Amino acid sequence: RRNGVEFAVADLELAEFGRKEIRLAEHEMPGLMALRREYAEVYPLRGARISGSLHMTVQTAVLIETLVALGAEVRWASCNIFSTQDHAAAAVVVGPHGSVDEPKGVPVFAWKGETLDEYWWCTEKMLTWPDGEGPNMILDDGGDATLLVHKGAQYEKAGVVPSAEEDDPEEWKLILDVLRRSLAADSSKWTKIGAGIRGVTEETTTGVLRLYQLAAQGELLFPAINVNDSVTKSKFDNRYGCRHSLIDGINRATDVLIGGKVALVCGYGDVGKGCAESLRGQGARVIVAEVDPICGLQAAMDGYQVATVDDVIEQADIVVTATGNKDIITAQHMARMKHQAILGNIGHFDNEIDMAGLSRLPGVRRINIKPQVDEWVFPDGHSIIVLSEGRLLNLGNATGHPSFVMSNSFSNQVIAQIELFTKHKEYDKEVYRLPKKLDEKVARIHLEALGGKLTKLTKEQAEYIGVDPEGPFKPEHYRY
Ligand code: NAI
Repeated sequence: RRNGVEFAVADLELAEFGRKEIRLAEHEMPGLMALRREYAEVYPLRGARISGSLHMTVQTAVLIETLVALGAEVRWASCNIFSTQDHAAAAVVVGPHGSVDEPKGVPVFAWKGETLDEYWWCTEKMLTWPDGEGPNMILDDGGDATLLVHKGAQYEKAGVVPSAEEDDPEEWKLILDVLRRSLAADSSKWTKIGAGIRGVTEETTTGVLRLYQLAAQGELLFPAINVNDSVTKSKFDNRYGCRHSLIDGINRATDVLIGGKVALVCGYGDVGKGCAESLRGQGARVIVAEVDPICGLQAAMDGYQVATVDDVIEQADIVVTATGNKDIITAQHMARMKHQAILGNIGHFDNEIDMAGLSRLPGVRRINIKPQVDEWVFPDGHSIIVLSEGRLLNLGNATGHPSFVMSNSFSNQVIAQIELFTKHKEYDKEVYRLPKKLDEKVARIHLEALGGKLTKLTKEQAEYIGVDPEGPFKPEHYRY
């Protein structure tokens, strides 16, 4: 704590560099800056106490400072151990008007290269407001903040935190430890926090899946807005963002020429489509693995070979998982890969690649090449290069998506925060999406920033296709 601002970041001295990059990013984030202008005198988030769990990057800094400009108090942690940009974290703590000696910004608990223990400490800190009141809003990416509140409240109700099973993932054991400690200190901490929250806005596919599961079981403690499925989020960030940041991560990690190589992309959803396109753009021959015949057919129509991991793993020079599912690349697959083939994941969680299984293979050896790049050597002498220990490589090995595409995603986040904070009484404990009109508003701002000019429907044309000349232009079921 300095000047009343709590924080845990790598180095506050990096704030000046962070501020310079934030200044450049603001110009590339026209949606967020337009929202700041639109609400300059209204402060719709006055009274909001937002706990945020989302990659602490330069782009997120612009999001955080937009929430503050709209009146919110904010506390932040990253949603991944490798994704923080330390200069951005420092700049947010110092704030636009503070200094290293006198920070005036936002409490941030995040640094690049946290241990999992530290990660859950940061997440708990971000949810624990100093006056004991707790947050009244959550902004989540992947659902870890929401998970902690829900599991905490569930175990408080039961009066006991269950013991972990031996084969539970390490991370789950850590979460149970956090909750056990907090139950011993305060038997209603998470119940109170859960009761005070007006809503959560969720950024990504994986977090949204968790929310729908909670809602289906009738266990969701507060309303949720699924930001991911705004068209201007998933069809842009997931796709065009990954098209940019996947190869950025591979290049910064390995600097291996992608052209001429065989790349295997597992999953051809929004993320997989962007990944395949960027690898092909570099001249790779791309093979896609899918379970869904529709996405598989899309891949074939886009000109990719569609095959199973089992059939082609030996051919691939680069393997990328983008499924949001688990156990995609097993230790046995890894043992069969080419010498010095590159393996990375761009899906939200690290369970797409069986890293635990790899480390248990008899005789396997890990050589750290540099941070977030490891060579794993098999007993026969051949090796593979694993990026970011199987965690999302575009944020671990590079700096994630660029500002412009994140401006789309984060504009939806801000609009969703305002919606749930100001109108929470109109929402049930369910998962909602933003209305199409707002999606179109976000797209319009960004298209105009790119110099695009839209055609206007005539009244007759609008009547002929049955829409309002001002939009929305498509029915809800339209898929883009
Ligand atoms: P999506 O649901 O559109 O696509 C996933 C695809 O994987 C689906 O088509 C599904 O059929 C396929 N799939 C599932 N199991 C499979 C298996 N065993 N083998 C092959 N294919 C399989 O999801 P989306 O939006 O593409 O997201 C994927 C993951 O990426 C999620 O975890 C999401 O949270 C994450 N994400 C990561 C970003 C990043 O910057 N790293 C950005 C946006 C999303």
